[in-house]
Amino acid sequence: MESRLQANTSPTVLGTQDLLATIDSVIAANRSVAGALLPMLHGIQDLLGYVPSTAVPRLADALNLSQAEVHGVLSFYHDFRTVPPGRHILRLCRAEACQAMGCDALETHLQKRHGLTFHETSTDGAVTLEPVYCLGNCACAPSLLVDGEVRGRVTSEKLDRWIQELRANAGGNP
Ligand code: FES
Repeated sequence: MESRLQANTSPTVLGTQDLLATIDSVIAANRSVAGALLPMLHGIQDLLGYVPSTAVPRLADALNLSQAEVHGVLSFYHDFRTVPPGRHILRLCRAEACQAMGCDALETHLQKRHGLTFHETSTDGAVTLEPVYCLGNCACAPSLLVDGEVRGRVTSEKLDRWIQELRANAGGNP
């Protein structure tokens, strides 16, 4: 999953027909790929920012799977979202080096100061918080991805500043 970390961080809002056309184009592009379900799910999320429920029956039909089987894979990998993310995505590293350097305290700070918990989006729709497990930036732990950009030596103060900037950029309240 780490190879997908730089994937789409700017969710696209499409009408229903465009959404279905996007899903179908990803299915068509990956139909001959071995183990096509995962590439299709990644492709859809890369383009849309999440995997909408309307994709499930189309994927099942294309791959001759049951919808339950598609759902099973979709829910097994936490990297997949089934609802649209916020306009900006923070990914806080929770792996060993970052644990040792205080990522738990950052998680607590995000929750208390900003109302952000993992796999949730702020009420203003500006920021989604997700966990990640090693960004290859251990020497500068604790680490964080801000819209796909790695940042190191993260502190509560830096988080406050970045989130304020993101919310201002997203049109929300700091
Ligand atoms: S453990 Fe966090 S960047 Fe490696």
